[in-house]
Amino acid sequence: MSVNVAVVGATGAVGDLIRKVLVERAFPVKTIKFLASEKSAGKTVEFAGKLYTVEPIRAEAFAGVQIVLSSTPSSVSKEFSPIAAKAGAIVIDNSSAWRMDPDCPLVVPEVNGDQLHHIKKGIVANPNCVAIPLCVALKPLHDLGRVKRIVVATYQSSSGKGATGLTDFNAQVAAWGAGKPVPAPTAHKAQLAGNVITLDWTLDPNGFTEEENKVVNETKKIMGDPTIGVCPTCVRVPVKVAHSEAVTVEFHNPVSVADAKAALAKAPGVVFMDETKDGKFPQPLHAEGSDHTFVGRVRQDPSNPNALCLWVVSDNLRKGAATNAVQCAQELVRRGIVK
Ligand SMILES: NC(=O)c1ccc[n+]([C@@H]2O[C@H](COP(=O)([O-])OP(=O)(O)OC[C@H]3O[C@@H](n4cnc5c(N)ncnc54)[C@H](OP(=O)(O)O)[C@@H]3O)[C@@H](O)[C@H]2O)c1
Repeated sequence: MSVNVAVVGATGAVGDLIRKVLVERAFPVKTIKFLASEKSAGKTVEFAGKLYTVEPIRAEAFAGVQIVLSSTPSSVSKEFSPIAAKAGAIVIDNSSAWRMDPDCPLVVPEVNGDQLHHIKKGIVANPNCVAIPLCVALKPLHDLGRVKRIVVATYQSSSGKGATGLTDFNAQVAAWGAGKPVPAPTAHKAQLAGNVITLDWTLDPNGFTEEENKVVNETKKIMGDPTIGVCPTCVRVPVKVAHSEAVTVEFHNPVSVADAKAALAKAPGVVFMDETKDGKFPQPLHAEGSDHTFVGRVRQDPSNPNALCLWVVSDNLRKGAATNAVQCAQELVRRGIVK
């Protein structure tokens, strides 16, 4: 079977990759259209060797579409995803608009793909780009010893702010490297070249950033266990693509380093790198362009016999967004949910 697809936000950082990932994964496309804002209407985008004209987003564009892959700001998704769903499509949405809606599954196929059988509103939410690889790494460990609490510090790349983040960062790095005055930040909240920023997101009333609160709430929802404690610190670092995470995981039942390594080595979606064997360890430059979640540095927490420490790295635009969304689309077809 093949599917009528619409890619919404096709001109953005995530939308651009969705076009590539659909081709790489040989997604069975019957027809495809590309939508963005009025500003991009008439531009062309390439898909599978052909050029397509970008259409402005509007209700009529969704007639006959079976799967919508949407990567727009939340406000746009809040308006248009229900319209697309009403027209009969299943929307897989990359924004944060629907993630905590109890009627919208929040899906990482390797962790909770079964949730795709519970789509009440016609919308599947694609999780945050920190929560996705975190849950891919946690799932095999949760199955071993049931996760009680995690403490996570992130090292997030500039491209997490989309195409405008990378433009901002590239301009700063060029000037900084040339010893010229660095232009004032436009997308990031402070200079990122030669710096790290822990307030690159809106501060919420609880003192955590919006990003940190997403990591807390989405991790519990994806893992299907609201009792898991999550304490995050999210930090933007001067890296173009791929987010890294230093994670300490406390378990209800003790998990040995050896058992954790063995489980991670065979976990779906994980590339496990054992630095004790060959000195190799996960880095953003390995993860960029890969659909996998790289895990390494697994070690016993010296302060807690029931906890392990690990290092997780994943391409935020791929597994953290585009790839996960396309995997959800593939699962909808494989499970016969979209026919
Ligand atoms: N970047 C990441 O690592 C990442 C990871 C996970 C999730 N996300 C989420 O995915 C979404 C897209 O992120 P991004 O990084 O791809 O952002 P981006 O590079 O800024 O792209 C945004 C896309 O949305 C379109 N858009 C903006 N306003 C619109 C409107 N009024 N009507 C229709 N289309 C509109 C843009 O079209 P124009 O070009 O025409 O303006 C563009 O195609 C966001 O919700 C983001 O939070 C991003």
